[in-house]
Order: sequence, then structure tokens, then C-alpha cells
Amino acid sequence: MSDQQSTVLELVSRLNGRVLISSDISDEDMVGKDLESLTAQILNFFGDAQSINILNKETLLKLSSNIDEKAPKQIEIRRSSAFASLAKDVDANFNARSVEVEKTGAMVSDFASYFNDRFKKLRQFIEEGRSSTLLGMINNIESLKQYTQGREVAIVGMVYDKIITKNGHVLITLEDETGNAKVLFLKSQYSVKGESLFDLASRIVPDEVIAVRGKLSSPFVMASSIVFPDIAVHSRKKSEEDVATALISDAHVGSKMFMENHFSKFLEWLNGGVNYRKDLARKIKYVVVGGDLVDGIGIYPNQDKELNITDIYKQYSVFFDFMSNIPDYIEVFILTGNHDAVQRAEPQPILSKDLIGDFVQRNVHYISNPGYLTLHGTKILSYHGTSLDSVIQGIPGCTYSKPEVAMLEILRRRHLSPIYGNNPIIPSKKDALVIDEIPDVLHMGHVHKNGYSDYHGTLIINSGTWQSRTGYQLKLGHIPTPAVVPVYEHKTADMSVVDFNNV
Ligand SMILES: [Fe+2]
Repeated sequence: MSDQQSTVLELVSRLNGRVLISSDISDEDMVGKDLESLTAQILNFFGDAQSINILNKETLLKLSSNIDEKAPKQIEIRRSSAFASLAKDVDANFNARSVEVEKTGAMVSDFASYFNDRFKKLRQFIEEGRSSTLLGMINNIESLKQYTQGREVAIVGMVYDKIITKNGHVLITLEDETGNAKVLFLKSQYSVKGESLFDLASRIVPDEVIAVRGKLSSPFVMASSIVFPDIAVHSRKKSEEDVATALISDAHVGSKMFMENHFSKFLEWLNGGVNYRKDLARKIKYVVVGGDLVDGIGIYPNQDKELNITDIYKQYSVFFDFMSNIPDYIEVFILTGNHDAVQRAEPQPILSKDLIGDFVQRNVHYISNPGYLTLHGTKILSYHGTSLDSVIQGIPGCTYSKPEVAMLEILRRRHLSPIYGNNPIIPSKKDALVIDEIPDVLHMGHVHKNGYSDYHGTLIINSGTWQSRTGYQLKLGHIPTPAVVPVYEHKTADMSVVDFNNV
């Protein structure tokens, strides 16, 4: 048996009967292809269909062309001389704010001051929310001791722990500076704005700050309502100028699954070279890149097998080759993510000079992760979204297929990484992951799945990826939505979606 024959058999074995291989596929069709990536592409293509799937040669060649074993080439972008950009004639109007990225020694005192700052800020949001449920009622926890049984009280605290009792009730411990209290949420009929109190309580996570109202019933407070820091209902500001912002993330340059042709199409589109949604292309004045610019090195086990550029500096230099094709009247804001070669703990600093290399372009700006932008009056909070992993794991109802649900839970908690410890956070004196300005647009990436929603007036946008499905995602059952670009129009305060999969 030759090596090539064993490659076909190996693919058959990996597909495990889920997809059959047609006889027109020869061993030569698979020479040099990475089997793990190819298996992921095939299974992704056929999806979860129950019928018998047969892979023919044409489909195999099409799918294997998505996996690029060679480093992306310098691409040629077509520019249309007839392209009449509207944004080109509009003056840029932006403010970019990086959060403070402090380095501390991670001493006990650092953690104490970090949590203290988080608690104070989030408690203030609850107090400013002036919920009628709490009005004039908030007590500190120590003061509960002076009240008689049955008294109605309200407290604000940070969640120390949460358990489900043997009778199925939710029991949490809330802490403030003065003490702690046990709060019980019964499986009862209480309803808060259409959501059952018990359902809300089962979504409580450690380290978040909430207010609870209830009756003293030693040793518990029997909860009757819950109030989150939350964001007020508001309307998005509309700009006079008819300009738009394209939100992207997770390019993963350096990965064999980076979709260079699709990414090139997007860049060509910005230059007026693609005859598709030119009405929107004309308005693009800003591009926000929400981290994971490159795939990085050593981010997960055996990643090297999925890389076609194994030098981190080369990955960035190819990424910037792509960026250099963005017209110079478009302002570009670049954040980092968990795959980028900066400190992993959040908040993450801007990209360092050695990674940017000799790429110099006046219209490209680097901001921290998270970072705040104001573009023609529209406030955009951009955060890579690393905490989505812990939020999706920790809150019932959140899934990787609908990142917008997890993003809503984040807004409600006014904290970008509410569960401490699952993804690293710097214990700095000030908690820069508190959402201190209510954004018109909350932009994230990380999960490689587009998702959109409107919560209290804030537009929630997850901008997906430019990387096709990886072997790692296949194992986890994640199905990405690559090459789909959400575009925010500032004049209408609304968004459209531009899909580069079939242009
Ligand atoms: Fe990513």
C-alpha cells in the first residue's frame, strides 16, 4: 500500500461514515493537504444533514482551496477610478480613548483595591438607576442585624458564591464592605418585567454586583426582586453626515484557514472595485478591527500544524500588507485580542512598535482592548470578547451560536468580564473593564460568529471572523460565520450586513 493510498483511507476514517468519498477522487487530489483542516472543511460544508452525503472531486478541490498551505501572497486590489466616495469629502470626526492599562504586582492588596473599585462603580450605577424597587431603601449588610424578622429590606453586594439547594432554590452570598448576607430565591411566581425572578437568579454569576429586595427571614433574606447595574433605555445619536463604519475582527493572518481571497474582496470593496453594495462602500469613513489580527504562535496545542506563517513578526507584516490597501481617507482603529502578541491579561495594551514594524500610515490608530470610540457623536465600545467564553459557560441560555445573548448579559452587568478568574484580568487599582460609558454600539468578536441585537437602545454587534472552520472549532462544535461585515450608518443610526461569501 502506498503512502498516498493511506492518506485517502485516513480521510475516510476521519469522516467516520458521516460523509462518503466518491470514486472520482484520486490520491493525488489530496497530496500536501492537511487532513485535520480538510476534515473540518468537509464536515462544515455538509453540516448536520441527516441524508447520505457524498463528497465528489469538484467539491473536494473547492474545499481544499479554502485551506492555504502557503503564506498569503501580496494581493492586488482593483481600484475603480469611477468610484465616487462620499466619505472622502467628509472631514473625520473622531475621538479614541484607550483605557488605563496598569501593571501591578498582583499582591493581595492589589486584588482588594481592584474588587473595591469594581464594587463601588457598579453600586453607583445601581443607585443612579433609581429603580422604584429600591427607592430610598438601600441598607448596608451589617445594618440588617438591627431589624426585626419580616422587615422589607434592600441590599447591594458582590456575589461571593451561588449554590442550588437540594430543594432546587437558588442561594447566594452577597458581600459589601460591612459583611455578608445569604439571599434565597425560591422557585416561586415572582416576575420582573416578564422574566421570572428564579430565572434571573439562576443566571447570577460570581463577582457580579446586584441589588436585592426581600424580607428578612433569619438566616436569609427571602428575595422578591433583583436589580442589575444595567444601562438606561436611550436612543442612539444620529449624525448629520452620511458616513458609515465597517466593524471587523478576527482576521487570524498566519492561519491556513485565513480567507485571504475574501479579505481581499473586502479591501477591494472599500476601494470601489466590487460591484456590490457600492451605496454603502461610498459611505465608509471608519474601519474598526476588534483584535485577533493574526493567529499568533502557541495559543493552543498543536497550533503549528494549522499555521502557514510560523514567525510572529511575519504574521503581522502580512496583516499590515493587507491594511495598507485601505484608502487613506478611511480612519482605521486597531485593537488587540487573545491571539495577539501582547500581554494576555486584560485590559490589553495597544500593539507594540516592534510588531507594527515599518508600517506607517497616518490614518491607522491603535487602541487598547477594550477601547472607546466616538465617531461623529456615536459612542462605540469595542472589546475583543475573550470573556464571552466564561459568560457562555456560566450563564444558562447563552450559546456560541448566539453571541448577542451573552453580550446582552454583559451590558446588563455593566462589566465586560463579570466572572473573575476564567480569563486573566490585571488586578489594577481601577477596574477598566467596567462599562463606564453607555455605548450606542457594543462591538465584539472572538467567537467567530456574527450576531446582532438591540438592548435598551444599544446596538449589539458581533463581527465574526475571516477564518474558516478550524479543527479545534470542529471538536467544540462551533460553526463560524466568516467574511460577513456589519456596517453601521451614522446618519440613520442603524446597521446593514455585507456578505463577502458570494461576491
Ligand atoms: Fe479569534
